[in-house]
Amino acid sequence: MALIPDETIESVRENNPIEDVIGSYIHLQKKGSTLMGLCPFHNEKTPSFSVSPSRQMFYCFGCHASGNVFTFLMKYENMTFPESVRVLAERAGIIIPEGEESEEERRKRSTREQLLRIDKEAAIYFYHALRSDEGKDAYSYFADRGLSDETMKNFGLGYSRKYRDDLYKYLKGKGFSDELLIKSGIISFKEETGIHDLFWNRAMFPIQDLNGKVIGFGGRVMGDGKPKYVNSPESEIFLKSRNMYGLFIARRTKRDYFILCEGYMDVIALHQAGFDNAIASLGTALTEGHCSLMKRFGKKVYISYDSDEAGSNAAVRAVPMIRAFNIDCFVINLSPYKDPDEFIKALSAEEFEKRIEEAENGFLFTVRKASERYDLRDPGEKTRFFSEAARMLLTLSAGVERGAYLSAVAEKYNVSERDLKNLLIKESEVLSRKPVRKIISPDTENIISLNEDNSSKTGSGLQKERISKGMAETYRMFLHYLCSVPGMLERSSLYIAEEDLPGVYRDIYVVLKNEILAGREINPARLISLFPDEKGQQEVGRIFSFTDEDYDSSEARGKAFKEALLRIKKERMALLSGDGGDSAENVYNALMDERRKLSDIQRTEFVI
Ligand code: GTP
Ligand code: MN
Repeated sequence: MALIPDETIESVRENNPIEDVIGSYIHLQKKGSTLMGLCPFHNEKTPSFSVSPSRQMFYCFGCHASGNVFTFLMKYENMTFPESVRVLAERAGIIIPEGEESEEERRKRSTREQLLRIDKEAAIYFYHALRSDEGKDAYSYFADRGLSDETMKNFGLGYSRKYRDDLYKYLKGKGFSDELLIKSGIISFKEETGIHDLFWNRAMFPIQDLNGKVIGFGGRVMGDGKPKYVNSPESEIFLKSRNMYGLFIARRTKRDYFILCEGYMDVIALHQAGFDNAIASLGTALTEGHCSLMKRFGKKVYISYDSDEAGSNAAVRAVPMIRAFNIDCFVINLSPYKDPDEFIKALSAEEFEKRIEEAENGFLFTVRKASERYDLRDPGEKTRFFSEAARMLLTLSAGVERGAYLSAVAEKYNVSERDLKNLLIKESEVLSRKPVRKIISPDTENIISLNEDNSSKTGSGLQKERISKGMAETYRMFLHYLCSVPGMLERSSLYIAEEDLPGVYRDIYVVLKNEILAGREINPARLISLFPDEKGQQEVGRIFSFTDEDYDSSEARGKAFKEALLRIKKERMALLSGDGGDSAENVYNALMDERRKLSDIQRTEFVI
């Protein structure tokens, strides 16, 4: 642990008003003497997150998250305490002497800093190459696609030369080690081919983070070759789910919405046409991470994906994901043109503006897309379509929202609201009649809750909870990933509530959550000591020693994590369906809630 003097910490705090710092992440509105916004630490529709300038504290009335400006960064950016102090010191122009950093912190920080320097040097190298003799073809390529010199400059476009290792040599000349260069991903190493540049003879798009720092590149072939794009791999500084192309400009737009497109060229063409709010995900499908990033800015999202089948399918997947973050979402129709870039070139910015005005509501777009799979002239197919529409309506929260969409769908597809409502009830009965899984089987372990002494309050007496071996392993895996990547808590808590875990697993989850939210490092010894009884200690030990060597890629780990979330949700739903003690209506509403979360998980990509 670094030893930063208390007075320095205090002065960093005083020079970083909490309302300014949090205000740069979250849209805050003044309510009396405090500021309110949507809580970033749990999913909510109405603001319950308050920031108090007088007390220099934040507090959420919903999830009770609270703390000061350091805690906020620790929770939000998953930083350690010293990291948060350093970032805020830099923001306020306060210098913290190097010697006060621990060895490990310096190493970590300096790797990140060096990777940023490498990408910066490479961006400059590519930039100059575009303007050199060798870069002529690339320059004409961009110009022929309608980009002005000013636009090329604004986006820092460049060119990677034809040689296999000229960038490598250049960067070596700047003193970077092979190890770092390979870490940056723009230099590759393979046993068979040795060390070489990732990009050869490509039109280069530097990718910038929220602050405009270059963190990676996309390189396009100039013509029809394959692959069309080569992109930097993920690295310590380049997380594809945490960044979006164009966002460092778009974040300052005056408009109250983002235009979400598919490609780099679309973003650039839109910016050139005056839409300074265009962004795109980075060569991957939209993820939950992107949604949470967009949500920070309190804007609506207008999807402007390609008008082909792939683009429209991608929009069908994106809409519910964006909506799940309570972001208002619309879909722009570009036909008969392929993408925004082509549209603007063929027509004009004014015409595009019109399409924005005419954009379709995101939910109604997904219903319309579903309707296209049915022949609505056929009575049987028409009935099936309305059943599907009813199931889609069931994913909306009950009440005003569902009512409003029900009316809109009924009117649009010419069915009476009453008939549609009846279908809704019928579909909901089908959904809640899921078979109840047998929970008590011979293959069970007895696990006693640590909460046993106060369990009389919950009415379950001293009854032991029975958990199948398979589920026990699932809970362990879930908790294991939370321990190893505490940042996942923010995402998983959108879906997993404390009640979803039984017995000792719930206790561990609660303790773990507290540790993570307090920004403490997950320390096995400390955690174990928090459990007075043997069973608890044993379980904590098992969770830490859980091995995941079968999942050596972050993608595989993400899949395993997602699978664990799904199993936990399904188990919860099975328990709910079998809950004889509660009223049918409560069970039904709870089930719908769980079903919504389940389908959110299914649509989400997790990368650990
Ligand atoms: P243009 O065809 O030049 O207009 O490019 P675009 O930016 O419009 O790309 P397109 O709509 O074809 O694809 C959307 C995005 O997907 C691109 O910006 C890239 O991020 C990514 N992408 C497209 N092709 C490839 C590919 O071959 N490999 C990889 N890794 N990513 C690709
Ligand atoms: Mn395109």
